[in-house]
Amino acid sequence: MPNSLVVKNRIKNFNKKIKIPGDKSLSIRWALLASLSSGTSKAKNLLMSEDVKATLQIIKKFGIKVILKKNVCKIFGKGMDGYNFKKNQKIDAKNSGTLARLILGLIVNSTVPIKLIGDNSLSKRDFDRIINPLKKFGVSFKLLNKNKLPLIIKGSNNLKGINYEEKRGSAQCKSSVIFAGMRSNGKTIIKAKKSRNHTELMCKYLNLPIKITKKKKFDLIEISKVSKIPTINYNIPSDISSGSFFMILVALLNKSKITLKNININPSRIGIIIILKKMGVKIKFLNSKIYNGEKIADIIVESPKKLKAINCPTYLNSGTIDEFLSIFLVAAKANGVSYFKDLAELNNKESPRLIWGSKILNLMGVKNVATNNSIKIFGNPSLKVNKRIVIKNFLKDHRVFMTSVIAALSFQGKSKWQISDVNSIKTSFPNFLIILKKLGAKIN
Ligand code: S3P
Repeated sequence: MPNSLVVKNRIKNFNKKIKIPGDKSLSIRWALLASLSSGTSKAKNLLMSEDVKATLQIIKKFGIKVILKKNVCKIFGKGMDGYNFKKNQKIDAKNSGTLARLILGLIVNSTVPIKLIGDNSLSKRDFDRIINPLKKFGVSFKLLNKNKLPLIIKGSNNLKGINYEEKRGSAQCKSSVIFAGMRSNGKTIIKAKKSRNHTELMCKYLNLPIKITKKKKFDLIEISKVSKIPTINYNIPSDISSGSFFMILVALLNKSKITLKNININPSRIGIIIILKKMGVKIKFLNSKIYNGEKIADIIVESPKKLKAINCPTYLNSGTIDEFLSIFLVAAKANGVSYFKDLAELNNKESPRLIWGSKILNLMGVKNVATNNSIKIFGNPSLKVNKRIVIKNFLKDHRVFMTSVIAALSFQGKSKWQISDVNSIKTSFPNFLIILKKLGAKIN
């Protein structure tokens, strides 16, 4: 199989400190806001992945100068009206749902049509979720393929703020509406089910006219028209979602320990920590601090003696949304039956991940019962996989690929795993395999 790798050996126990690349959500948001700021912004440790490079390419297409040297990036913003829109311009979000949805919110002021395209995986994903609220502002859309990409957006420079209820817990939709609100007259009021809040924190840190009222189950966000964004220098902290693969690996081994340096532990992203702790994994934070409104710490994870099954509370879903696939592996080794519910959103990712989670477990011989929004996993603490496994996902779903590699390295008995789509890691975590090899993994 081209573009695939082979794992034949279980990884040995290790005790290491590692550095994970910059946070993807923060990298994309920084680049977008910096591109509309008045002056030069600089980021260090920007994630150098295809999703972030696609973001830089789009802002360059709109006439914004970008200088990139290794992972240090300078963006020369020309203010809120600095984008140079050209009629029928085509922009490509490649594999990134975050970029596609967020950029739509930022270009609602284009009075000429702009065409948004994406790769094969992104072109299968739903855009109604963002088209519907943006239409309420007065933006028009032409869809060439039902509710999917490619689409053509045509905005206006006289938009009116809206009232919007975000019910999915989607940070992409919430953020896109916040951005559109920044470009609209009057107030935009969002009642948003809890989800990652990096956009709000960045807007607050930049003193933009945003007000956030936290309620138990949702946040109320008010945003008014923004006339000027100050420049933002940002040392991007490391990505907990990328780091989670190593936490899971340690959870699945017997006597290992890992320290992940300088990770963004924003409370809206730490579902993985809460779940792993509930399942018996030892996790500690060290050197906690607040940086540009975000919480950061080193995370230390140690292998547990035993893993307990979990009936996962749904309030953790949004804060764990990118980590469930790999958490299912922990459930496969836990003592008892684990249950994860209300997870229909997982099937709206780069590939239908609930289906893929169940598929990988089936291939491994782990009993599970999946519906369109839930999965029950029957754990086996002495699980070893002794048959040949072939995983063929070609939707550039980086998390399906990385989860499969972690499964191969930890459940390997006497066999060979062949896993497709190595190139998918370029979207979010290009040095994933390099780090694994440093920990001792043998991968061909
Ligand atoms: C993201 C939000 C999440 C997440 C994605 C990144 C973001 O998507 O899955 O990887 O940066 O806003 P949804 O908002 O669609 O849940």
